[in-house]
Amino acid sequence: MQGMVSDEFVERVRERSDIYSVVSHYVQLTQKSGRYWGCCPFHNEKTASFSVSPDKGLFYCFGCGAGGDVFKFLSLIENVSYFEAIKLQAQRLGIDLPTKNFSPEEERRRREEKILLKINELARDFYHDCLIKTARGEVGRKYLAARGITQETIETFKLGFAPDEWENIFNRFTRQDFTAQQLEAVGLIVKRKNISGYYDRFRARVMIPIADVFGRVVGFGGRVIDSADDTPKYLNTAETVLFNKRNLLFGLDKSNRAISAAGKVIVVEGYMDAISLFSAGVKNVVATLGTAFTAEHTKLILRYAKKIIFCYDSDEAGQRATYRALPIVQAAGAEVFVVKVPDGKDPDEFIRKHGKEAFENLVEHAATLIDYRMKYVLEHADLSTIRGKIQALQEILPAVIKIPDNITRNEYQKKIAAVLFLDEQLVADEWKKSLRTAQQNSIREAQKNSNIVKRTILSSDENIMIREACETVLRMMWYEDELVDFVLNLIPRENFSEVNREIIGWMENRMAQSLRFDETAAAMELSEAANAQLSRILMGGANDPRDKELSIFEDSLKVLRRVVMKKKYDKILSQAEKYIESDEETYAKMIQESLDLKYQMDKLKGNP
Ligand code: UTP
Ligand code: MN
Repeated sequence: MQGMVSDEFVERVRERSDIYSVVSHYVQLTQKSGRYWGCCPFHNEKTASFSVSPDKGLFYCFGCGAGGDVFKFLSLIENVSYFEAIKLQAQRLGIDLPTKNFSPEEERRRREEKILLKINELARDFYHDCLIKTARGEVGRKYLAARGITQETIETFKLGFAPDEWENIFNRFTRQDFTAQQLEAVGLIVKRKNISGYYDRFRARVMIPIADVFGRVVGFGGRVIDSADDTPKYLNTAETVLFNKRNLLFGLDKSNRAISAAGKVIVVEGYMDAISLFSAGVKNVVATLGTAFTAEHTKLILRYAKKIIFCYDSDEAGQRATYRALPIVQAAGAEVFVVKVPDGKDPDEFIRKHGKEAFENLVEHAATLIDYRMKYVLEHADLSTIRGKIQALQEILPAVIKIPDNITRNEYQKKIAAVLFLDEQLVADEWKKSLRTAQQNSIREAQKNSNIVKRTILSSDENIMIREACETVLRMMWYEDELVDFVLNLIPRENFSEVNREIIGWMENRMAQSLRFDETAAAMELSEAANAQLSRILMGGANDPRDKELSIFEDSLKVLRRVVMKKKYDKILSQAEKYIESDEETYAKMIQESLDLKYQMDKLKGNP
């Protein structure tokens, strides 16, 4: 059975993992009465309340209640799921991962992917050596030195140089048992037109390796030395099986810990901006790869921090890109801020001219999304006509109507009327219209989704509330398995999302076999998506939430019950319509039924 092999694997990794040495890699520990103590890395503190007990293989923080085994520690500090933490630790110890039974097709795909990653890694090392060791790399060294890039930065980012030759990579790598197809698949060589053969894609360029979150090299950006050339300034790896710009962020492999620690990330446009900020000590930075900022990027970042600060070039293109990114990022639930670099075109120039502190000061005073949006719209609007003003108003409104707080919202309403020289009543009317459109849009959006829970959603706030309620309820079920049946009686399972259903099904399975819920088993038996979800759920609350969260649990159940009722209510109403003329009695009965439901729903809402 897969479960048994895997348990054995986990125990093997655990046996060889000394929690003291793992933790002391991240936290400075001192010994006191049989335990080790240090400042907790999971909350801010000055006196040590974080303890490690090597005999038991556990850690616990008396300050914030974080605790668990060595894998739990790794999962928390590296921001990965429990399952990923086991894999990570196995990798660090050089223990091979157990081979699962993949289909031959999947097996082949994985083997091929490994080879492609290996090629990229070797290419990175080759370019790097070429830059730092060879005479051919002299041009590259000079270029980087002139830009103020230090030896240390070259090492950190493993920058390199592609020699000005047409078949270097091709010859070198095909000699080493790699095929031309493989080299082409990672985008290092290109098929010649008209005649047979291949040539190297990157020539006479400073090479910037691009890694995924795990630090695996998936592609390259190559910068020309002489900008006067009419070739593009940057040549990047084209789309490959490993390289997809939509969900890659340059630098994230190096900056993710700093991003978690700071609780915020600075997003810049250029590789050189990211490299420059990082080297200057602003380490919570990533760059997009010359593409728009996508919802995938947002998701990736939200694993580490909620606050996203855009710091694009201050030219028109950069500002337009910022403006376009805002709604995407906001919709994904991030807190968004914008820094406009005042002096110099981009963050790289600014920090080289003015230093780290000046830059941090800019970040400190970043504009909120709403203020930035207002400013941008006003700068680009034609305020000489009433039509231009209304257009500007309609551009601004979608952002401000979402402000949850009444007073702030009213203030903005006044402010907008004032800056546009418009009548307050007119602004209020447009405001209402805009709100209605937003609601209709989100209903339409929800209807597109087949998920029943989502179908009844009216606002994005409610969306978040329902998601959190689901998570709380699942967390309680984890700690108290009798709740599983109880919850399912109140909330039929089709109301949960697919991953949540997988977790619930797993719980029922364990109970049927009289087995406890435990994270190792879950890590082995659940899909990766369900695992990530479970880790999130378990990390969401106190260690053992039974005391503290009882009332939150009850509230969450109410939220979910209301969703179920709303669904019924909608159904009855739409059915009732059919009877309006043909069967008045049935119609009246159904309407009464719907009113009862409405009453119960209001009761649940009014008394949370
Ligand atoms: P920038 O020109 O702002 O990049 O373009 P940069 O890093 O600041 O460049 P230099 O070296 O300091 O002059 C932003 C990003 O757009 C992509 C790259 O990812 C670049 O970092 N880009 C730009 C391209 O892919 N190709 C290009 O020709 C130009
Ligand atoms: Mn630049």
